[in-house]
Amino acid sequence: MKLLQYVFIIVVFLYLLLSTQCLAENVIVNQFKFDPLGAMKELAEVIDILNSKQSTHPDVHLNITQLVEKYGYPVQEYKVTTEDGYVLTMFRIEKKGPPVLLMHGILLSADDWVIAGPDDGLAYILASSGYDVWMGNARGNKYSRQHESISPEDSKFWEFSWNEIGVNDLPAMIDFVLETTSEKQLAYIGHSQGTTSFFVMCSEKPEYNQKISIMIALAPIAAIPNAKSPLARILAPYHYYANVLVKLFKIHEVLPMPVEYQYMENPVCEIGNGIICSTVLFMFTGFDYEQINQTNLPVIFSHTPSGSSAQQFIHYLQIINSGVFRKFDYGDNKNQAIYGSSKPPKYRLELVKAPVALFYSENDWFSDVEDVTNLQNKLPNVKEMYLVPFKKFNHADFLWAKDVKRLVYARITDVLKDSKSMKTI
Ligand SMILES: *[C@@H]1O[C@H](CO)[C@@H](O)[C@H](O)[C@H]1NC(C)=O
Ligand SMILES: *[C@@H]1O[C@H](CO)[C@@H](O)[C@H](O)[C@H]1NC(C)=O
Repeated sequence: MKLLQYVFIIVVFLYLLLSTQCLAENVIVNQFKFDPLGAMKELAEVIDILNSKQSTHPDVHLNITQLVEKYGYPVQEYKVTTEDGYVLTMFRIEKKGPPVLLMHGILLSADDWVIAGPDDGLAYILASSGYDVWMGNARGNKYSRQHESISPEDSKFWEFSWNEIGVNDLPAMIDFVLETTSEKQLAYIGHSQGTTSFFVMCSEKPEYNQKISIMIALAPIAAIPNAKSPLARILAPYHYYANVLVKLFKIHEVLPMPVEYQYMENPVCEIGNGIICSTVLFMFTGFDYEQINQTNLPVIFSHTPSGSSAQQFIHYLQIINSGVFRKFDYGDNKNQAIYGSSKPPKYRLELVKAPVALFYSENDWFSDVEDVTNLQNKLPNVKEMYLVPFKKFNHADFLWAKDVKRLVYARITDVLKDSKSMKTI
């Protein structure tokens, strides 16, 4: 595991060098003012922190169930098996109210919804407003690395992208929630890949539209030809080679950080007001210093990342490159065998008939405003377009920003209330 950590750090620093925007924007200019005495002090502080090897934030060492209990909510854990044999973990903060299913993005997990803390975590906000909160985990993340017959050590386990998460995982979890609660419908809130997989589900299994009272999409992603993330832009034209490399070097699983590794001491995020960790986060999601909660960074980074399959990334690179929201591209011959056409078929967004609310922002390096507007035009039942009223708001701010409650979650609870009058068409 040590090796993986070093590889990750090297990749991140190469990326830092490549991404000129980050050099220009904030990191060096604003955060490091050249001041030799100050630098010595900083260095001493860094050494101190590394020597003490203890994060000072108590939540760093707590897992999701411990966190939820610490903040005074009941929490339950469930196992849900998909049609194709993956065993997924769901967490629930049970309340006598309408069920809401929260679905995380790529490399992330149910932790997303609680690690912002008791005041700002969406799971807590919804539970205290009386919703029965369910948090899903996609196949392959740290909570869902299990299958009835295939071991995660076997490359076969990892042969899925967000297509399979949409076609198999979401329906299994939705059916489980509706059966357990004896309800006919639930509200769905997804972030990033949690929205992509939802659009996949409703276009591939349109009968699921009926089971959704409202879908709230945070940083929605379908066709994203205008995604700005430098890493994605650099890699997208080479998605075919990325696929070959993955097969050659058997890199099927990306940044897994197994559970025992997750809760290590993590002082790195406490160095220099979290400069290292915030920069890593910004390089992937867009720069927004104002909204980063430095105190909370160690908690985020001790619970994130949580693992994904390499194919999930490759599938995103493919759609950035093609500009088309379509199924996984296996190459012309295999496409012909699987789809009956040399190019992968498009997802049919016109079949997403459940009511949808799109929440988006201007500094999101993945969900570009233009792409979200195009998505709005393709979806037949958009009830709400909400542009976050903060210019620098980025892709991850939807989960962890300092003002996320005021800027985003207040509107979510309003939309949930209004959704009583909305219908699937
Ligand atoms: C969290 O940790 C506690 C105590 O070690 C353990 O009982 C529980 O199963 C863990 N929960 C998860 C989701 O890993
Ligand atoms: C920052 O996070 C900490 C928890 O780690 C929380 O107590 C604090 O209220 C947060 N600050 C803001 C401004 O959200």
